Amino acid sequence: MDSATPSALTPDTLAILGELQEGACRRIDQSDGSSLIALQRNGAVRLFRNRCPHRGIELDWVPGAFLAVDGHHLQCATHGALFDPLSGVCISGPCAGDALQRLDPDHRTG
Ligand code: FES
Repeated sequence: MDSATPSALTPDTLAILGELQEGACRRIDQSDGSSLIALQRNGAVRLFRNRCPHRGIELDWVPGAFLAVDGHHLQCATHGALFDPLSGVCISGPCAGDALQRLDPDHRTG
């Protein structure tokens, strides 16, 4: 079982998601040493596990720096994979077609 899956939606994480503003993208560190990516685009809130599907490592090498130069896509710092910020699907790079693990409440209930 994925240790970040159910435990990621703690009251603190949900509070952070509720306070996100349009265009925001931030890192949320977890007590187990893992981290999450929280963002809001076009009014939609997303929460992803901060783990690239290519090698299973964190996307950011500067903590919290996830955005590509276009300011829209998420980018893995290691090999440059680009991810759609709403679906988490890799659109370019060595893991094209794979996706970040989505954890936000909208995904779980809908
Ligand atoms: S580890 Fe993310 S693209 Fe290779």
